[in-house]
Amino acid sequence: MDMNDFADRAGSVANGAASADIAICAPVASPAPWRRVCDLDAIPRLGARVVTSVHGNIAVFRTAADEVFALLDKCPHKGGPLSQGIVFGRKVACPLHGWNINLGEGTAVAPDAGCTRRFAVKIENDAVFLLI
Ligand code: FES
Repeated sequence: MDMNDFADRAGSVANGAASADIAICAPVASPAPWRRVCDLDAIPRLGARVVTSVHGNIAVFRTAADEVFALLDKCPHKGGPLSQGIVFGRKVACPLHGWNINLGEGTAVAPDAGCTRRFAVKIENDAVFLLI
């Protein structure tokens, strides 16, 4: 398996505060091909796995229904590690102050505001691929 620019690992790293700029909600435009990051079973249901990349740490979440979502592992509030949050439905609760973040859009649930960058992700043959 070609892992080139990134390697996956358990756990996560908290980074500095994120900007609340709406522009960072947009998925990263990348000419790169899809990259296999792990088997689906390597991500716990209602949990996440962190993939390091040139864009920073990416949290890849798995829901109870086996959907996957990928967000920059940085809460839009004060940069908390979303990968360590609690996944419920299609949201994750940040472990630092409890903001809820929509996994599909990367946006904070009102009344909170802000967003974190999202990444295209897919499942194919029980493996997870990121477009980064
Ligand atoms: S850093 Fe996530 S809720 Fe404060």
